[in-house]
Amino acid sequence: MQSPTVSELLSQNTSLLEVEIKGWVRTFRANRFIALNDGSTINNIQCVVDFENFDEALLKRVTTGAAIHVKGELVESQGKGQKVEIQVKHLEVLGDSDPETYPIQPKKHSFEFLRENAHLRTRTNTFSAVMRLRSSLSFAIHKYFNENGFYYMHAPIITGSDAEGAGEMFKVSSLDNKNLPLTEDGKVDYTKDFFGKETNLTVSGQLEAETYAMSLGKVYTFGPTFRAENSNTSRHLAEFWMIEPEVAFMDLAGNMDLAEDFMKSVITHVLEHNREDLEFLEKRLLDEEKVKPQAERSDMSLIEKLNFVTENNFKRVSYTEAIDILRNSKPNKKKKFKYLVEEWGMDLQSEHERFLVEKHFKCPVILFDYPADIKAFYMRLNDDGKTVRAMDILFPGIGEIVGGAQREERLDILKQRMAAIDIPEEDLWWYMDLRKYGTAVHSGFGLGFERLVMFATGMGNIRDVIPFPRTPQNAEF
Ligand code: 4AD
Ligand code: MG
Repeated sequence: MQSPTVSELLSQNTSLLEVEIKGWVRTFRANRFIALNDGSTINNIQCVVDFENFDEALLKRVTTGAAIHVKGELVESQGKGQKVEIQVKHLEVLGDSDPETYPIQPKKHSFEFLRENAHLRTRTNTFSAVMRLRSSLSFAIHKYFNENGFYYMHAPIITGSDAEGAGEMFKVSSLDNKNLPLTEDGKVDYTKDFFGKETNLTVSGQLEAETYAMSLGKVYTFGPTFRAENSNTSRHLAEFWMIEPEVAFMDLAGNMDLAEDFMKSVITHVLEHNREDLEFLEKRLLDEEKVKPQAERSDMSLIEKLNFVTENNFKRVSYTEAIDILRNSKPNKKKKFKYLVEEWGMDLQSEHERFLVEKHFKCPVILFDYPADIKAFYMRLNDDGKTVRAMDILFPGIGEIVGGAQREERLDILKQRMAAIDIPEEDLWWYMDLRKYGTAVHSGFGLGFERLVMFATGMGNIRDVIPFPRTPQNAEF
């Protein structure tokens, strides 16, 4: 049987219980009190050492970061701040940690510093809480789809097609850069490459998920996706995880219902199962807010924000309505957006999205029916010939968190849209086959997992919610 975790021990009421625990030392005070953490909770268990009973040389090795094994009695604590503690009978140092060089000292470190030490940052309270929440959200996502009749589908990572038609792909090649095979007209000869053609890391599993929706009915993918977009922002990664449900016989209204129900369900899950970590992160944010001017402080705490999302309807607004609202709005004292909303057809910038969500509607917003020209080729054209059945979900503090659409199921119109942006029919013959054989209305969306983790943890930078972030000029670890 496995020994209990710190989390389990701390919720024990029974005193005088023989226990044993392994973990990492956070601090060792007065040669007597070890604060021990094993990753199961932000709380440490206090291990009390009677130093006269232990070898001095052994106690010297109990330093911050060291891995230790403790056996003793779980007793009611005399000190403040914890109900129980361990009276240590046996102590073993499993792995030493040189206090001179160990990067994670028992003090406040900046997130920048911790990013440089991403291999050790989960030994801090903030990052262990964030990553436990990430794990819990991931479980909640699988649980939701499993309970709602979806099949989990694994989309390929290496693909020959550009799902978004946006050209933001990382090439995959086995060719020797110094000795590239060339065709007669001097171009790289990809027929000599591993797959005999140009291939990329996937930007989205959607097109493959569509093929499965058109046979299994309700499917979803949950896997890594890659974008070579040079956006050095706090919301973009070059490698991120995406959840993409795809459903046959479902239109855009059904897609919005699904997305809203799904988002509420996974957030409810963490509110119910990760209370301690959420309360810790909420307090962290409140401390951060204290130093801000009053006007910039959030009027809701982290848990209030999460509750708000689960308890209120998302506002559904068409792109055209949104443009009207933005044109007639005064976003700040200067009464101007940096990017002016001049004409119908322009893409919304994040300042516009955030204005709609945070200042105007003050709740999550689903924007739909976007101009065809600013959206992907696969979205279903509306009867007006100008807009497509796209939807983006915007969240407070995050901006776009979900992008989705009803798909173009009519072969002739799909071909026109592909031709308009020069996608060769040969590249997507299999995708077009879905429209040739038993085509039907179908829809789906993509949720950026890290943006969800940001929302649920209140973390302000996407680099701090994924174990090893990949961003321009950075693929350390
Ligand atoms: O809006 P996007 O590009 O949509 C698609 O890829 C569709 N094929 C999805 C579908 O309909 N099945 O991306 C979907 C979401 C965005 O809303 C955003 O949350 C996230 O993926 N995302 C990113 N997250 C982190 N870093 C990036 N570079 C991201 N690009 C998109
Ligand atoms: Mg998008």
